[in-house]
Amino acid sequence: MAVNPYDTPRGRLRTRAEATRRQFLMLMGTVGALGATVFGSIEILKFMFPEVTGNAPAQFKTDFTFDELTGGVDPQTKQARAGVAVKSITSKRVTVVLDDAGIYAVLLVCTHLGCTPNYGTDVTTGSGVKDDVADARGVRKPNERIPNGWACPCHGSRYFIDSTNFYGPAPRPMDWVDIQVTPDNHFVVDRSKYVAIRQPGDQTPPHWRLRVDTKKDNGKTLGV
Ligand code: FES
Repeated sequence: MAVNPYDTPRGRLRTRAEATRRQFLMLMGTVGALGATVFGSIEILKFMFPEVTGNAPAQFKTDFTFDELTGGVDPQTKQARAGVAVKSITSKRVTVVLDDAGIYAVLLVCTHLGCTPNYGTDVTTGSGVKDDVADARGVRKPNERIPNGWACPCHGSRYFIDSTNFYGPAPRPMDWVDIQVTPDNHFVVDRSKYVAIRQPGDQTPPHWRLRVDTKKDNGKTLGV
């Protein structure tokens, strides 16, 4: 700050006070900008890497029963009556799938950046992958096959019904988590207990299933 040698003492005091006020405002501005940058960065990081289900407990019980998913067990064949069936619980980030081998639960956390993929009955359109490639995934009879799976709303990754990625930036399949039958014939899903984890490029379909006839899992974990 330049000093005017001809200024009066009162003038010099006023000049000094104005300089102090300017410095204070600059300091406040800098602190504000810094705070906004830090806060914004944290929010962007939370968006890019969301927690699996916020602070929700890892275990949850389904609203639907074993019989509502399977149609009940045929006493002759010991198989489900419903054929294949899918129930998505998007708020819990899980889809429960019934195929001819049994029941499994896919954790809906996109392996790209963690968004929640949506279940759909036609995930091949526009991907360049033929329907019959998608149809062949999962364990199901020819008349039960459709090109279903999941599509991620964030950057377009797509997954077959066995959760294998086939399109977009997702580097690997989505994981499967534990699902068991409760004493009152619902299901309990444990999102903290993985039963199938596959690495990039691994197209092996997991064989883990909750069996329909015994209501117990077959223990065939993969990659855990
Ligand atoms: S987060 Fe799913 S494609 Fe990017």
